[in-house]
Amino acid sequence: MSPAGSVVRAITIPSYGGPEVLSVGEVPAPAAEAGHVIVHVGAAAVNNADLLLRAGLQKHFVTGLPFPYVPGMDLAGTVHSSTDSRWPVGTRVMAAVSAWRAGGGAQAELVGVPVESLATSPVGLSDVEASTLPMNGLTAMASVDGLGVHAGDTVVVLGAAGAVGGLAIQIAKVRGLYVVAVASAADEHRVRELGADHVVPRGDGWFDDVRRDVPGGADGVIDAAVIGQPAVDLVRDGGTLATLRSHDQVVMARGVVQRKVFVPEELSNTAALTELTALADSDAITARVARMFTPDEAADAHALLAAGGMRGRAVLDFSSWQ
Ligand SMILES: NC(=O)c1ccc[n+]([C@@H]2O[C@H](COP(=O)([O-])OP(=O)(O)OC[C@H]3O[C@@H](n4cnc5c(N)ncnc54)[C@H](OP(=O)(O)O)[C@@H]3O)[C@@H](O)[C@H]2O)c1
Repeated sequence: MSPAGSVVRAITIPSYGGPEVLSVGEVPAPAAEAGHVIVHVGAAAVNNADLLLRAGLQKHFVTGLPFPYVPGMDLAGTVHSSTDSRWPVGTRVMAAVSAWRAGGGAQAELVGVPVESLATSPVGLSDVEASTLPMNGLTAMASVDGLGVHAGDTVVVLGAAGAVGGLAIQIAKVRGLYVVAVASAADEHRVRELGADHVVPRGDGWFDDVRRDVPGGADGVIDAAVIGQPAVDLVRDGGTLATLRSHDQVVMARGVVQRKVFVPEELSNTAALTELTALADSDAITARVARMFTPDEAADAHALLAAGGMRGRAVLDFSSWQ
């Protein structure tokens, strides 16, 4: 338990701006709250959501909360204090949390986590590896399962080489789906390794190539490349499109159903988090780390992610804070 008035180190956003506004600062230590455990964070992944928060593009979600904000939606570490007998001190855990709350997000030394947002860390994965799974895994699982498709059906994954797309391929294979992945030619081997049955290289004419290779359209499409409206035309009549950008206005046609995936709605999905651990334990899903950064290098992690082309996640390694 943290004494009242104590502070912890965290990545902070003291004002909106570019990566340079990020700094290592001190924030109030999380208080022991009913239904929460306090996790000593070993590592926290850097996601696109962190860039949006830092740039002020999530202002409407943090209205009323004062600066500094603490970014980060997923973490892995060790239970530091707990009054819940299911989560004893010392348990290795991973969790998905919201950064839009008074206590801030995942990128702090100690973080209060609602028990429903916790899962044990996959055996054999380091904190750095495990931290890449919760948020993107929940997003990928909600995308696949939200399609309402059945084993043997065909799903097209756009942005297949990305963090969400890659996990979506793997989860789709676990569900018995036939996966068509769209990724750059340079990524073909990566998405095949993840389980894609068919790969359409993302060059000129890729859209027509998908329509040729999936005649009549796919039963489900996951738009992890956030291309928006054109993705509708890749879905069969009455099929489902999973979209991942909440403000996109995508107009459906031909009975296509839109499944809007919004991971903040999934953070308490304990069953999904627990399944992610089991899938990682059985090597059905893979933790992909692009590069590790020290807390002092958080700005570099943001800049690298913003530059595009990252394969796997940038992860902040907090082991120097142990
Ligand atoms: N709704 C939610 O709750 C939620 C949750 C998590 C993520 N997201 C969003 O989902 C998206 C994917 O996240 P991520 O973490 O997987 O991102 P990521 O790792 O950067 O992957 C995005 C992938 O899409 C590809 N791509 C980008 N633009 C494309 C285009 N115009 N056509 C085809 N492919 C394109 C990228 O390829 P290149 O790198 O080669 O450009 C990359 O492989 C992001 O926009 C993220 O903000 C939403």
